[in-house]
Amino acid sequence: MKFFVDTADTKDIADLAASGLIDGVTTNPSLIAKSGRPFAEVIAEICALTPGPVSAEVVATDYDGMIKEGRKLAKIASNVTVKLPLTLDGLKACKTLTGEGTQVNVTLCFSANQALLAAKAGATFISPFIGRLDDIHLDGMELIHEIRQIYDNYLFDTEILAASIRTANHVKQCALAGADVMTAPPAVIKSLVNHPLTDKGLETFLADAKKAGIKV
Ligand code: E4P
Repeated sequence: MKFFVDTADTKDIADLAASGLIDGVTTNPSLIAKSGRPFAEVIAEICALTPGPVSAEVVATDYDGMIKEGRKLAKIASNVTVKLPLTLDGLKACKTLTGEGTQVNVTLCFSANQALLAAKAGATFISPFIGRLDDIHLDGMELIHEIRQIYDNYLFDTEILAASIRTANHVKQCALAGADVMTAPPAVIKSLVNHPLTDKGLETFLADAKKAGIKV
C-alpha cells in the first residue's frame, strides 16, 4: 500500500520524505488555507519535495471552470494530480483531463456507486472518505471493501486512495481491505511506529549495555 501524506505543511512533508515513508501528497482547499500561503507557490514547493503524485484541488464547480483550473494546476509540475469533486461536472472534467494525460484524483466519494462512476470516467485515483462517514455513524471501512470488490470484479485500474484517515487502526484496516493508497495526516503516519513493547525493550537493552560497558 502506498502512503500519501495529507497536508500542505512543507516542513512536515520534507521531514517525512527524508524518511522514505511517503509516496505522494494530498492537499485540499482547507489544508491550503491553513498553510496561509499562495496556492500555486505551495503546490510548486510540495512538488519539488517528492517525485510522487501531489493532489491539488480545483475550486470551480462547473465543467469549464474545472478544466481551466485543472490545466493551470497541471502546468505547475509534472507530478501534479488534479483533484476534482465527485459531481457530474467533475466526472466530465475527469474524462477530459485524463484524456489529455493529466492524472486525476476524484474526491469526496461517499458511496460505492460514486466510485463506480469515477472509474468509468477514467479517474487515476478515487478518494473515499472514511473518517467523515464514521463521523455520521456509518462504516467508512465497509466502503473501502465494497469499492475493492467492484473494481476487482471489472478490472478497473483506478486506484483506491483511502482518505479522511484519522487513526493507526484505519491504516491497518485499509491495508487489510486492499486499498492501493492511503492518505493520512503526518501525526497518524508517525504514530504507526509506536509500540509500548518496543519502548520497553529498547530501554532494557540500553540499560544492560550501559551496565556491561558495551560500546559500538
Ligand atoms: C483527502 O484527500 C482529504 O484531503 C482528507 O483526507 C480529508 O480528511 P478529513 O476528513 O480528516 O478532513
